[in-house]
Amino acid sequence: MKMKNVAIIGTGYVGLTIGACLSDIGHKVFCYDTNSIKLEDIKKGNLPIYEKGLDEIVQKNILNKNLNFTNSISVALNNADICFIAVGTPSNADGTVDETAVNEAIVEIAKNITKYTVIVNKSTVPIGSAQKTEKLIKRLTKVPFDVVSNPEFLRQGSAVYDFLNPERVVIGTSSSNALKNMMELYEPLNLAKEKFLITDEKTSEMIKYASNAFLAVKISYINEIASLAEKIGANIDLVSKGMGMDDRIGSKFLKAGIGFGGSCFPKDMKAIVNIAKNNDVELKIISSALSANAIAKENFAQKILSFYNFNVRGKIFAVWGLSFKPETNDLREAPSIDIIEKLFEYGAIIKAYDPKAVQEAKKIFLDKISYSNSKEETLENASALIILTEWEEFKSPDFNLIQEKLKDKIVFDGRNIFEKEKLKSYNLDYICVGKN
Ligand code: UDX
Repeated sequence: MKMKNVAIIGTGYVGLTIGACLSDIGHKVFCYDTNSIKLEDIKKGNLPIYEKGLDEIVQKNILNKNLNFTNSISVALNNADICFIAVGTPSNADGTVDETAVNEAIVEIAKNITKYTVIVNKSTVPIGSAQKTEKLIKRLTKVPFDVVSNPEFLRQGSAVYDFLNPERVVIGTSSSNALKNMMELYEPLNLAKEKFLITDEKTSEMIKYASNAFLAVKISYINEIASLAEKIGANIDLVSKGMGMDDRIGSKFLKAGIGFGGSCFPKDMKAIVNIAKNNDVELKIISSALSANAIAKENFAQKILSFYNFNVRGKIFAVWGLSFKPETNDLREAPSIDIIEKLFEYGAIIKAYDPKAVQEAKKIFLDKISYSNSKEETLENASALIILTEWEEFKSPDFNLIQEKLKDKIVFDGRNIFEKEKLKSYNLDYICVGKN
């Protein structure tokens, strides 16, 4: 194995995870961030993100000095063979990609590289970014470098596992030297060569957008079919199961619910729609999937409100789950935000529990929500229970306690984690998605 000196620019969900994992497979990693407080917290073991298994490998590799944190980019880049750009690329108001952080990182890298360095776009960047980055850096330094596109496909909640067991590693580059470095970097993972797709930069950048947008289209597709299933009395979970038995469709990302959230799907869909518009192409399916996602969230809020004829002022709702998906503390674009805000509009009171996302939720809802320390605690004085995230620990609750505590004896299940018959046997009413 050829140990590489690696610099990671940005210590968020992607940067911290790939930095820790690269150090865990034997490379010497320096993670750079402008936020010194965040770096100090990480060194002390207080990670800003929850990812299964991450804190262990961070601590282990800090101890063996494979993983280092610095707010000096010259320290991070000193002697670096490979530098990953892993800063945030959020959406602008008009849906285009906010490249501010990426551009700042590029300039800092250009000013601080001292030897041939492979500069890797890990952040999801607009198609054509690699060429743009190369032009910008060429204007700022004479030091040799290559720019590579190497999109991340990590799923939050299984990011460490996904890094160590990738289904695919896509590398977009036209430089054989850069490719050699990248293959040496990934070599310790002992991946079969079929796992690698080596292509040009633009194709690599497009694979990322096209993949995320397609997964989101699948989800919006099943959520639209769910709306119809409810009206005609079909069972969406069985429709999904039946569809998924065709391996051309596949069963994954076909679970009806209250829509998709997260920092990737919404932003990447808006981005590729805008990239297309700038190239006189209209991506109707992806645009429709975005609108359908907003409708999925709205539909679920309307279900709760119309059950009460919109008279929910002062009613207490127990909410289980705030994060955009289980096994993460992340609330970015979480459906829970839109649904809870809609209930607030009609004067509802929310008592919420989430295993990991309460700290993040407080930054969004401030004290508008009261936070419980357990799912059971939310039930005190509550009229109804609302499930917004399908955390494993919600799936086998004490239904007798729910029946005893809820004034209106009803559960609104946005993720179809329960079965109607079961709740009926506990004298509980049940409203969910895509089945009656
Ligand atoms: C996604 C992509 O899956 C990953 O490859 C990419 O690198 C980053 O974005 P992530 O956003 O972490 O990963 O979560 P994911 O598991 O994809 O779920 C995204 C959203 O879709 C969540 O809100 C989830 O609740 C929702 N979802 C997912 C459904 O509503 N139904 C499904 O069947 C699957």
